[in-house]
Amino acid sequence: MSSIEQKNDYWVTFWTTHEIIKAKDPQCQIGRTVNKISIDQQKWQFHLDEIEEILCLCPDDTLIDLCAGNGLIAMPLSLRCQSVTAVDISNTLLEYIDTQLYPNITLITEDARNMNLPTKAFSKGLMYSALQYFNEHEIIGIFAAIYQFLKRDGLFLVGDIPDIDRLFVYHNKPEWVRAYFDSVKNNNPVIGTWFKKDILVAMAKYVGFNEAVVINQHPDLINSHYRFDLLLKK
Ligand SMILES: C[S@@+](CC[C@H](N)C(=O)[O-])C[C@H]1O[C@@H](n2cnc3c(N)ncnc32)[C@H](O)[C@@H]1O
Repeated sequence: MSSIEQKNDYWVTFWTTHEIIKAKDPQCQIGRTVNKISIDQQKWQFHLDEIEEILCLCPDDTLIDLCAGNGLIAMPLSLRCQSVTAVDISNTLLEYIDTQLYPNITLITEDARNMNLPTKAFSKGLMYSALQYFNEHEIIGIFAAIYQFLKRDGLFLVGDIPDIDRLFVYHNKPEWVRAYFDSVKNNNPVIGTWFKKDILVAMAKYVGFNEAVVINQHPDLINSHYRFDLLLKK
């Protein structure tokens, strides 16, 4: 884990009040940009195909999308499965999801650290580009909740996790290293928590998952130089 001790509600405040959530472009609303430019649809489709393949999504799957944001993943995947439950703390982001157009999506405005969901209700799930908003203590609770609401043999993809062993691959210029340590000093995180792969694997096993497998991202994914995926199997 990185040494930044995140204030508990720092990210909740960010994702419910920051001006980016009102941006025009959907990828900008959730901050999926490279050099402040949002990724194009063709590239994004490649990311969606990767996610779908990792989850082996099929028409009878009941999917949960934790920290779903504005539904950039939930909407297209809802066309590939029976139902999607999209959970997020930001009502503003969730409201971008058109449930008339995607009637098998259910929206839940809830804190992922305090979920009240039925046990064994979902066959598959994901949390993409969001694990960094939680600390170790909170993630043990979130993993335990995921374990509870997944069906037997259920799969859960924790995607796009910042890799602490790539911290200086990402901050690869002296001024960016300085900016990183400024953010640590001021307790004002930019990315959030950076993770050690084997600690997350051990944490998932501790919570009870049968398998926890690290997946190195395809090099064509925009964050593959400093992020990885983790697939949990109940
Ligand atoms: C970078 S966005 C990713 C959105 C979506 N998963 C995607 O990849 O398109 C991170 C999301 O995490 C949500 N989030 C942050 N903290 C949360 C919390 N405590 N509970 C639920 N959602 C949270 C934010 O509101 C935001 O929608």
